[in-house]
Amino acid sequence: MDTTRREAELDLVVRKRTVIAKEVVELVLSSRSGEELPPWDAGSHVDLLLDDGLVRQYSLCGRPARDEWRVAVLREHDGRGGSAHVHDRLVEGTSVRVRGPRNNFPLVPSPRYLFIAGGIGITPILPMLASAEEAGAHWRLLYGGRTRLSMAYSEELAEKYGDRVVICPEDASGRLDLDEWLGTPADDVLVYCCGPESLLLAVEERCARWRAGSLRLERFVAKAVPDSTDHSFFEVELARTGGTVTVSPGETILAAVERAGVRPPYSCEQGTCGTCETKVLAGTPEHFDSLLTDEERDEGKTMMICVSRAACPKLVLDL
Ligand code: FES
Repeated sequence: MDTTRREAELDLVVRKRTVIAKEVVELVLSSRSGEELPPWDAGSHVDLLLDDGLVRQYSLCGRPARDEWRVAVLREHDGRGGSAHVHDRLVEGTSVRVRGPRNNFPLVPSPRYLFIAGGIGITPILPMLASAEEAGAHWRLLYGGRTRLSMAYSEELAEKYGDRVVICPEDASGRLDLDEWLGTPADDVLVYCCGPESLLLAVEERCARWRAGSLRLERFVAKAVPDSTDHSFFEVELARTGGTVTVSPGETILAAVERAGVRPPYSCEQGTCGTCETKVLAGTPEHFDSLLTDEERDEGKTMMICVSRAACPKLVLDL
């Protein structure tokens, strides 16, 4: 992951707004002046900076274009207001501030892929299919959802890619048969999965016997983080700014460094978006984020300071 990024913030306009499935709206965003947008690649997402301080991450799901960006948003009835804001207030012609793009879910070159999407988790997978196709890789997509009507882009996927796409609406065909698809590990296949937590956990469980690094997941909802009051005090040395701060059990590193006057970028504060990713110069982090791979965790070169802590008395961070 890139820890030296400086992200653009742009005021974009909602050029087009289409209901593409039950409770799913697609927005096409572009600059008012027609200026080119920053480049992006498959797996990238952007932050929508909504009113009232709401910040929500959505995958870019169209072609990797510079003239417009597309996002598709599911209305979450038990959400915290972000998707309702998008559905109810971002009508055509509305301006919206957008930060990014950022890619925590890059498509690593491979001769073969198995893509698994659940519900709105199809969005980051869409540009991956196009990239895999362009690279001449072999791929299959398993796409599950509650009903066909709730599954965004299912018709166009079936039309475009035929039987390489397995569409599995639960009310008609039952759940995705993960045992069939993941039961036998394959050394030359990378598995990419995005969807609800239950699907991610089921795929993780089945891929546990696969070669390390075979499975790549994207979580937009954080994994459960242990109560931070159970943790102990540790110190963080700020290598660039100078000085050391003490992080107490009920506090995050992010809060502690802000208390010391340092203002690192952050967004979700849940360990899912990658905005606060910080280089670790010394010490061993204890990771509680939902986006680093197992290899990246073991390397310990980087951490999400909004949730992760120290597994040692002192960390030295590039802050
Ligand atoms: Fe999103 Fe830390 S702010 S991962």
